[in-house]
Amino acid sequence: QFGSLAQQAPDSLLGLIRLFQEDQRPHKIDLGVGIFRDDQGLTPVLGAIKAAERILVEQQESKSYLGPVGDSGFVDLTARLALGDDLATSPSLVGLQTPGGNGALRLAFELLAEASKDSAVWVGSPTWMNHFPLIASTGLESRHHRFYDPATLRIDFDGMMSDLASAKPGDVLLLHGCCHNPTGATFSSAEWAEIIALCERQGLLPLIDFAYHGLGDGLEADAAPVRMFVENLPEAIVAYSCDKNFGMYRDRVGSLFVKAATLAQADAVRSQLFGTARAMWSMPPDHGAAACRIILSSPELRSVWQEELDTMRERINGLRQAVANSLPRLSAVANQRGLFSLLPISTDAVRLLREESAIYMAPDGRINIAGLSEANLAHFVEATSRFLEN
Ligand code: LMR
Repeated sequence: QFGSLAQQAPDSLLGLIRLFQEDQRPHKIDLGVGIFRDDQGLTPVLGAIKAAERILVEQQESKSYLGPVGDSGFVDLTARLALGDDLATSPSLVGLQTPGGNGALRLAFELLAEASKDSAVWVGSPTWMNHFPLIASTGLESRHHRFYDPATLRIDFDGMMSDLASAKPGDVLLLHGCCHNPTGATFSSAEWAEIIALCERQGLLPLIDFAYHGLGDGLEADAAPVRMFVENLPEAIVAYSCDKNFGMYRDRVGSLFVKAATLAQADAVRSQLFGTARAMWSMPPDHGAAACRIILSSPELRSVWQEELDTMRERINGLRQAVANSLPRLSAVANQRGLFSLLPISTDAVRLLREESAIYMAPDGRINIAGLSEANLAHFVEATSRFLEN
């Protein structure tokens, strides 16, 4: 039966985890997979999560099934966190818990494929490497638009708008809510407003991958553009992740929100989402979402969490400034946001940095800024500077 299967290349990002573990060089630096690290290079469980988990262990009375929405308190609280109270409680908004942001995206693409097989999904270049397999797995076609200019390390907004002029009504526009993966490049408020106007003019449906809420400029600032889409357009989709902002990575905590144009359409969307999720994972895993719900519904734990989130964000933005100060070619990194930036270097240079300097990053030159520290910054600057033209 399996004789017909070809060997598939391993995921290049996840493969780095093992390669790094096997490397014995003491000065090695892991700038690969997107996790927050503290200055010691560790990714500790957040204090708020530890406290919430203790409460969960003590108070949880049953592990019986919760049903297709998952933890409805979690869904309501993440909707309010992402979208604000008014949009979160609108009857035309459908929400459910998903296994991570990845599960939310997969479910969204399944819904879109069911609604309209001929719609194309417009994706800026470059994007998170798992977006394409997720889209392709549903049979939808993806189309590229310009997004990032590696020469300037900035957004090519004119190129993006001119490419999107050929999008058809009903096409989907995939956007990163904040902290763009892999570039860190951010739209200005005026650019966000232009994208919303374009969606309105051309009848495009925005699907916002919102996986780093609070890690860019803060909870309110990061959510502002996302809320503008949901408020101003008749239909919008938000794939939300708590994996990064609550440090829940392996627990896979996410939710999906779909704004439908009418109440009847919202009912149909809900039924489709429940049916598709049932066929993929039946019901989402509970533990992480329950812990996040406990935090979001307790004023004390919520403020502990927000302080921890602020600390993570400030560390990332401080490192961004340090990189920009040390490497003039990377000065734009200071104004980028989130865990990632894309080094303007070749895949050969990425390989040489790994082999000769023990610096690990994604093959496209994406670095996880949080992997840098006071102790390793000088080694990073010295090793990379030979591949960066000024
Ligand atoms: C990343 O881009 O490094 C993270 O989102 C982890 C992943 O699943 O790829």
